[in-house]
Amino acid sequence: MDDAFKPSRRAFLKGSAAVAAGSVAGAAVAETPDPLITELQDWASYTGAGVDETPYGMPISYESHVVRRNVEWLTASPISSINFTPIHALEGTITPQGCAFERHHSGAIELRKEDYRLMINGLVDRPLVFTYDDIERFPRENHVYFCECAANTGMEWAGAQLNGVQFTHGMIHNMEYTGVPLRTLLQEAGADISPDKWVYVEGADASSNGRSIPMEKALNDVLVAFKANGEALRMEHGYPVRLVVPGWEGNMWVKWLRRIEVVDRAVESREETSKYTDVYADGTAQKWTWVMDAKSVITSPSPQMPIKHGPGPLVISGLAWSGHGQITRVDVSKDGGITWETARLGKQGDTKALTRFYLDTNWDGAPMLLQARAMDETGYVQPTKDQLREKRGENSVYHNNCIQTWYVSAEGIAENVEVS
Ligand code: MTE
Ligand code: CO
Repeated sequence: MDDAFKPSRRAFLKGSAAVAAGSVAGAAVAETPDPLITELQDWASYTGAGVDETPYGMPISYESHVVRRNVEWLTASPISSINFTPIHALEGTITPQGCAFERHHSGAIELRKEDYRLMINGLVDRPLVFTYDDIERFPRENHVYFCECAANTGMEWAGAQLNGVQFTHGMIHNMEYTGVPLRTLLQEAGADISPDKWVYVEGADASSNGRSIPMEKALNDVLVAFKANGEALRMEHGYPVRLVVPGWEGNMWVKWLRRIEVVDRAVESREETSKYTDVYADGTAQKWTWVMDAKSVITSPSPQMPIKHGPGPLVISGLAWSGHGQITRVDVSKDGGITWETARLGKQGDTKALTRFYLDTNWDGAPMLLQARAMDETGYVQPTKDQLREKRGENSVYHNNCIQTWYVSAEGIAENVEVS
């Protein structure tokens, strides 16, 4: 351990919450008898729950605050809406399905495996219809990927808006998918896979959420997925089968996948024209932004995760990701971007997946302007909000991957702010 991280007794006695919080560092100075240590507790006096009580385990009631949340004023109805992953309260990189954000255009549908059909038609030698069981007979692969809605952080263009990383950055999840490469199904149907062709994919829900995907991507790493994190997809994530389009905007990850049509040009559906399109400051629009550029955010401390101890050892923790590949480096600033320290990556980042980073630091108790800045394998560096606004103006909605700032007070309270 570096000397800087050794808690000094004096520093801890000064920190108001340090002893009460019972942190590791606090424990070093605990002297008074603690009834939790010296007295027999209820949970050691009686027997606990039997193995027949929770056939499928839910989080313990003390963790009931770690849930998806929506922002009522954002959309007219919860049927065509979004809720947010509680990324402030999660660790590591895998998002449990039960708290992974949902985005539906016409609500989540209940579709039995027995009623599931997937059609491949269009420019194919053999139009085919697969049942769910058919799909499970093709060789499968497992990969961890993030899925980020293009609207993530979209409310922050004009200024700091929502006071919680769950709401500013929670339209993202990261799961291990099991599925069949789309390439395999295209081959099975004898599809025309020449590079100028496209696939048009649609879902079985009322919105159908149709999107066109260029053939090169369709043949590369797109998965027709039927499991997430080892178990069946949850209804809200597209049970029984969804498309996984690694690194590309969440809208293309069609849920309840029902049809794949091979076509010779992009369909230009609603979801790829009037929606999910970026408008520039000068009023012109960018046709298609598929790849989600490198982005990072500090999840703790953050507005929903205040610092609960005084000066001394502090773990700054966050997430970074890039639709172009691996995250190679994340820097953290405590002074609003004037000076930077390189963070430690939890482990070498997977391609197109969340990477956890840490800055194990010694907090002097002074206010901080915390920022994180991600770099990916292409050499791309996450931009500041002002750099993005120069190109995109303030009326953009989608694809906001700017550097986020949290102001942390001497009391450890964090707040969503902007620095320029
Ligand atoms: N697929 C269908 N069929 N219907 C939808 O409404 N929403 C899209 C995409 N696929 C949608 C869909 C959008 S905008 C996003 S961001 C992702 O699904 C969200 O996936 P999730 O609900 O599993 O988080
Ligand atoms: Co979306």
